[in-house]
Amino acid sequence: MKISDFISAAIAYDEGDARRIQHFMKVYAFAKAIAEGENVDSRTMEIIEAAAVLHDIGIHECECKYGSCSGKYQEKEGVPVAGKILAKLGADSVLVERVCFLIAHHHTFKGIDSLDWQILVEADFLVNIYEEGLRREAVESIRRKVFITKTGLQMLDNMYLK
Ligand SMILES: [Fe+2]
Repeated sequence: MKISDFISAAIAYDEGDARRIQHFMKVYAFAKAIAEGENVDSRTMEIIEAAAVLHDIGIHECECKYGSCSGKYQEKEGVPVAGKILAKLGADSVLVERVCFLIAHHHTFKGIDSLDWQILVEADFLVNIYEEGLRREAVESIRRKVFITKTGLQMLDNMYLK
């Protein structure tokens, strides 16, 4: 299974929505870089890469159903869409299950108990802070409450807090 297959499938699913495509590609790049910096094993890397590409895949479904793309709706709607894409690309059931879990929890910041989950959340913040133009105080609060990995903290500090 190649990550480019996930990327192509996600771009096709989000067709015409360049902003969202740019968002998940950035989250993917940061997640991969943090994961490498933290020396994750190859299986964890595979999970993180697939989850980063697909993490916001529920957004369109949310807008249709609820007229909103708030985090909680997204977590709920992303899972079936991602599950279909993963199955179509021949992902094994353990990978499908873990990626779906991460999609369902990527806006849940309490109780993070695993490195793949932590890295996905950090990568999403590294991009969202910029895209949403958050102020320094907000970034400092996110740093205190969310960031843990050495690589993610370095990126956050160098990008937003210098
Ligand atoms: Fe995101």
